[in-house]
Amino acid sequence: MFDLIVKNATLPDGRKRLDIAVKDGVIAAVEAGITADAKEMIDAEGHLVAPPFVDPHFHMDATLSLGTPRMNVSGTLLEGIALWGELKPIQSVDDIVARALRYCDLAVSMGLGAIRTHVDTCDDELKGVQALLEVREQVKDYIDLQLVAFPQDGVLRDPTAMANTVRALDMGVDVVGGIPHFERTMADGAESVRQLCEIAADRGLMVDMHCDESDDPHSRHIETLAYETQRLGLQGRVAGSHLTSMHSMDNYYVSKLIPLMVEAGVHAIPNPLINIMLQGRHDSYPKRRGQTRVRELRDAGITVGFGSDCVMDPWYSLGKADMLDVAFMGLHVGQLSSREDMAWCFEAVTTNSAKIMGLEGYGIAPGCQANMVLLQAQDPIEAIRLRANRLSVIRGGRVIASNQPQIAQLALPGRPSEVDPASYAPSTD
Ligand code: FE2
Repeated sequence: MFDLIVKNATLPDGRKRLDIAVKDGVIAAVEAGITADAKEMIDAEGHLVAPPFVDPHFHMDATLSLGTPRMNVSGTLLEGIALWGELKPIQSVDDIVARALRYCDLAVSMGLGAIRTHVDTCDDELKGVQALLEVREQVKDYIDLQLVAFPQDGVLRDPTAMANTVRALDMGVDVVGGIPHFERTMADGAESVRQLCEIAADRGLMVDMHCDESDDPHSRHIETLAYETQRLGLQGRVAGSHLTSMHSMDNYYVSKLIPLMVEAGVHAIPNPLINIMLQGRHDSYPKRRGQTRVRELRDAGITVGFGSDCVMDPWYSLGKADMLDVAFMGLHVGQLSSREDMAWCFEAVTTNSAKIMGLEGYGIAPGCQANMVLLQAQDPIEAIRLRANRLSVIRGGRVIASNQPQIAQLALPGRPSEVDPASYAPSTD
């Protein structure tokens, strides 16, 4: 007797008509025609069953604060940072907890199973750290949060940031962050990378830095991050977030840089919605897109995961915790339009990001945790095309969120009475 069987599922790799059996929170079997009994049965009706979405880059201490204390008028990254500086002293730990919990509700409803969130450590009271440590504990049964100690104002530029960042790690924050392009000089930026990577190496932690989030082709801190990763033996544990300056770099330099990143095993986390919104703001025309070189990084063998970065905060007024929106934007900006490329964009918001975060037991296979999302779509490409409805979100073998199928009723003479958006794709088998 299983706890749950999901019947007639299509998996992201294209396998169809499979049943997924769950026992004690773990996937026990993935086979065709499982006939055993289960306490609960879900008929996937041939729809896509994927492991949960994973967001490898978010700011949960700022989310849902849009308009407090005012709007970002210029729409730039720098006004967003200034606005966040105005909000920090007037928000309480309880405010941050309440907003973060609301965001986690939304995230679960959209099929998110894990989020890596940066938390600002440039605050002598460490209000964001206190809040998100509490939230991480409160939500652990239904969503995994991984916290990054993020010195937003520069770990060297802000006089107390280093001490506060170390204190945050002592309190239980998981990952070492940084923002080298925001330090006073290129030299300080490189020095910040060195010091922060050494802290991570000493403590056995992962690193995830906001790195070169600008249009400046000479912002080359990713080179230093790759160097320090290799020097300190941190291969596989380090990610560069944003990397937007790579969009503007000289091609010859990039031909040297990407192999250095490969050698160091550094992961890349573009944030398509925010990158296309914030980059190129100082350009007239032609206006640069700003998103890093996703195709080239991927083709070189670097693990690339798309992050959402912001939802309704000082930097971005939109967003709904929908990683399919993120994949949709990343696909367009990166011109990833072949069927293989589009399917890969689904991996960039699921398996790739899970690998970057080091999630254990992730996937739809025997022995994996029974975490999955049933989408109203036939395959990953259609899931992105439709930003598909989440029919069921399953955690530990239990349905924790569900939606009715989105089927419009049509009132046209001589035409069908219903429109199911997931039934329109021509067969590509
Ligand atoms: Fe960010």
